[in-house]
Amino acid sequence: METRKVRSYVLRAGRMSNGQKNARQQLGDKYLLPFQLESVLNFNTIFGNNNPTFLEIGFGMGDATIEVAQSHPAHNYIGIEVHPPGVGRALKLSETAELSNLKIIEHDAVEATRHMFTEKSLSGIHIFFPDPWPKKRHHKRRLMNGEFVNQLTLLLGRAGYLHIATDWEEYAKEILTTLQENPHLKNIAVDYCERPSYRPTTKFERRGLKLGHQVWDIIFRKC
Ligand SMILES: C[S@@+](CC[C@H](N)C(=O)[O-])C[C@H]1O[C@@H](n2cnc3c(N)ncnc32)[C@H](O)[C@@H]1O
Repeated sequence: METRKVRSYVLRAGRMSNGQKNARQQLGDKYLLPFQLESVLNFNTIFGNNNPTFLEIGFGMGDATIEVAQSHPAHNYIGIEVHPPGVGRALKLSETAELSNLKIIEHDAVEATRHMFTEKSLSGIHIFFPDPWPKKRHHKRRLMNGEFVNQLTLLLGRAGYLHIATDWEEYAKEILTTLQENPHLKNIAVDYCERPSYRPTTKFERRGLKLGHQVWDIIFRKC
């Protein structure tokens, strides 16, 4: 019997607006990279250039992703998200912004990063506000575990970075410890760092700030 995988998300039958549905139908071919098991992505073919490529995992509704891609035209971006309304919205926003430097994978990031990327191919990985899964019995669902961090570290090129932001203090501490334990990563700061200018305030972050939450940014470089 196959053992059930513990995933970092639960897909709920969320309502998709007509605009999001249309965007998926009409813009999917242009922006979506289908999940593939057998071959890895060739960024040069996908983007038509050799610019540095950055990955964002769990972009939610995509607003921050689009903002980052729009303000850094000399970088390529790939966003991964499992939430269909978020994917639909990100497609719509990409088209409105006429982005040619962003592609989207609608799939579990754990599987996509395991199968679709070449080692040392990424300049940076952004994970902004991964679900904190606050209840103890759900901690096993947290995305940022040692195994996933190892997998992501393999994909980083020389001096590539892993940037995580969270508004959940206990998760921030856990992430810090997990990254410190990886011998191929080095903290750019002492513990937490200032929010870098390239990271916009995200939708999830704004919700937390309204509730009085603090935010912790953690950036480690490949060494
Ligand atoms: C708390 S939300 C944050 C969204 C966005 N980054 C923000 O700050 O507004 C976390 C997001 O990660 C996505 N997610 C969780 N696990 C994932 C996985 N394994 N692969 C892809 N996306 C995932 C969820 O669907 C959700 O949209």
